[in-house]
Amino acid sequence: MRINPETVERIKHAADIVEVVGDFVSLKKKGANYSACCPFHNEKTPSFNVNPVRQIYKCFGCGAAGDSIKFVMDIDGIGYGEALRYLAGKYNIEIEEEELTDEETIRQNARESLYIILNYAKNFYQHQLHNSEEGQAIGLSYFRERGFTNEIRKKFELGYSLDNWDSFSKEALEKGYSAEILEKAGLLIHKEGSQTAGYDRFRGRVIFPIHNIAGKTIAFGARILKTDKNQPKYLNSPETEVYHKSEVLYGIFQAKNAIRSLEHCYLVEGYTDVISLHQAGIENVVASSGTSLTVEQIRLIGRFTPNITILYDGDMAGIKAALRGLDLVLEEGLNVNVVLFPDNEDPDSYVRRVGAEAFKAHLKKASKDFITFKTEILLQDAGNDPFRLAAVIQEVVNSIVKIPDAIKRQVFFHRTSEMLRVDEQMLITEGNKLLRKQHTAKPTERQPRQSNATPEGPRQEFHQPEGPDDLDALFSDGFGPFAGEPDAIPFVAEEVEAFQRTKLHYQEEAFVRLLVVHGARELEPTITVCQYVLGQIEGIELKDPVYSHLLTLFRENFNRNHVLTTDYFLQHHEAEIRNLTIEWLTQKHELSELWKEKYEIYVPFETDVLDRTAFNNILRLKKAFIEEKMKVCLQQAVHAKTEEEQHAVMTEFMFYKGISMAAAKELGSVIG
Ligand code: UTP
Ligand code: MN
Repeated sequence: MRINPETVERIKHAADIVEVVGDFVSLKKKGANYSACCPFHNEKTPSFNVNPVRQIYKCFGCGAAGDSIKFVMDIDGIGYGEALRYLAGKYNIEIEEEELTDEETIRQNARESLYIILNYAKNFYQHQLHNSEEGQAIGLSYFRERGFTNEIRKKFELGYSLDNWDSFSKEALEKGYSAEILEKAGLLIHKEGSQTAGYDRFRGRVIFPIHNIAGKTIAFGARILKTDKNQPKYLNSPETEVYHKSEVLYGIFQAKNAIRSLEHCYLVEGYTDVISLHQAGIENVVASSGTSLTVEQIRLIGRFTPNITILYDGDMAGIKAALRGLDLVLEEGLNVNVVLFPDNEDPDSYVRRVGAEAFKAHLKKASKDFITFKTEILLQDAGNDPFRLAAVIQEVVNSIVKIPDAIKRQVFFHRTSEMLRVDEQMLITEGNKLLRKQHTAKPTERQPRQSNATPEGPRQEFHQPEGPDDLDALFSDGFGPFAGEPDAIPFVAEEVEAFQRTKLHYQEEAFVRLLVVHGARELEPTITVCQYVLGQIEGIELKDPVYSHLLTLFRENFNRNHVLTTDYFLQHHEAEIRNLTIEWLTQKHELSELWKEKYEIYVPFETDVLDRTAFNNILRLKKAFIEEKMKVCLQQAVHAKTEEEQHAVMTEFMFYKGISMAAAKELGSVIG
């Protein structure tokens, strides 16, 4: 069944944004609106706003925005249908559903019944753990030995499966569940052609239910307790209609709020690592459950935070194997750090041995950014062998160019050039080559976040390290200065793209940058740069749509006696504008400051006096604008039908000419 459109309308109508949001955060009235500290990111001063008239919310800090339904979806990590049901429940709206097509019904029923049987199984295993003799004697004492408290067992809904062939399936079948659905859920194993009903998949193991983001049980991991060389230590549910291993992170349901509010996620390998860390008070942690990380898993984390720290067991071979896979995380634009643990320790054993405080101290002390970490490890390996060294350089550059943000790339080129003891420019040149290759290989690769590329997918291909031919190129002069700019704003219109390569565009940029970076500064008491600049360019419009939008913002605000600050643009809800601002704040000569920062990419504000040459840009812009006008006038004059018309156009032309000459003169004197 599907919720019918009338019901959806009724829900939307009833669900008042202030009430809905108010259930999750405490709102303060501020004029006509309400504000609060944003529940989607960590902040101390409220930038989260609710507008009751338009029935929307918006965070000026992190950009989260939407209506009541979107809010519920995001705060609970649930789907649209579930959010509607939640709101219907809150407002006592009876849900009217409409018929699905046969195919939809079958699919929905299949999924629904899987959730139901999985939930039933989870309760069954939990019950066995706490209430059966065997469960208590074996399962419960095992968990206790591991130090898992009652509370933590409940939180993760841990259980136990009895050590015989069919105690689960027998009871489930008696309850009326079909053998077919048990098999589909991965709980029953039925050999083809066999006359018997089949047998339980999980036998004599402690059970770790795996939840989806909304907290529904979708699969199980089950650990053996005996030592049996023929059995895997952990047995996991197979892929089912509701369990796609590559898209799931163990613990995400229990961790999501902590991840969101701390703006940080720890990634570990095992079930027990997640649980032990929770117990130690570190709740922003999830596990990839023994598999190598997938794009889907990374994007799942990325929905909550861009900051991820990977906690590795102290097993070098494993770490080296994982290194290349981690480029994926860089590619997704996440900030990756790495923490190593001593040999033969995993986060679970380490936290139990040293305690929560020492563990946290270790996280702080041993944390390294991924690129530095990778460079160190590869360097250790290469020793003094020049060929291997060349390969290391290639490998490191390969990783750096995966980072979508140009400024971060710069920082890492600088940092690794010191570690590798090679010229920074050489790394940059090599990086540019790879970047160009990516661009020509995939011209439409601008929206990677929407693509479903898998680690094995074609997106990976051109990232593979080059053959020995390219290693030679490493030491040649290469291609001039850093030109790679893959982060240009993706415009649709070709016209605009062509325009972006013109001189006028350059001037427009320099001009808008002046406003954004220095607009709020006072030239003299009570006269801001913004006021001066806007006064100089009355009537001038910019061609670039983004710059033009920014200029309009300045004008509109200035008319209301308000000067927009750089901060405003740094926090702008459009990532494009935030990124532009950061870029403008950190143009080349300011980057050296940046490198001093250790792990963070911190963008310092310019505090030096306003660069006089910046004013030239106003004049140049004015001149270029006027010259365009003059061109148009001349054309109109040629095509004028009457003498009168021609005269009018030429008068206008002369007017512009006057301004243009004045500007040229002024420009000359300024330059001089
Ligand atoms: P580990 O072997 O490191 O186990 O595997 P662990 O989590 O430290 O468990 P304990 O402390 O020995 O009880 C790490 C993860 O790899 C997956 C599991 O998700 C496990 O938590 N794994 C491991 C399997 O899926 N199957 C296996 O046979 C082994
Ligand atoms: Mn372990």
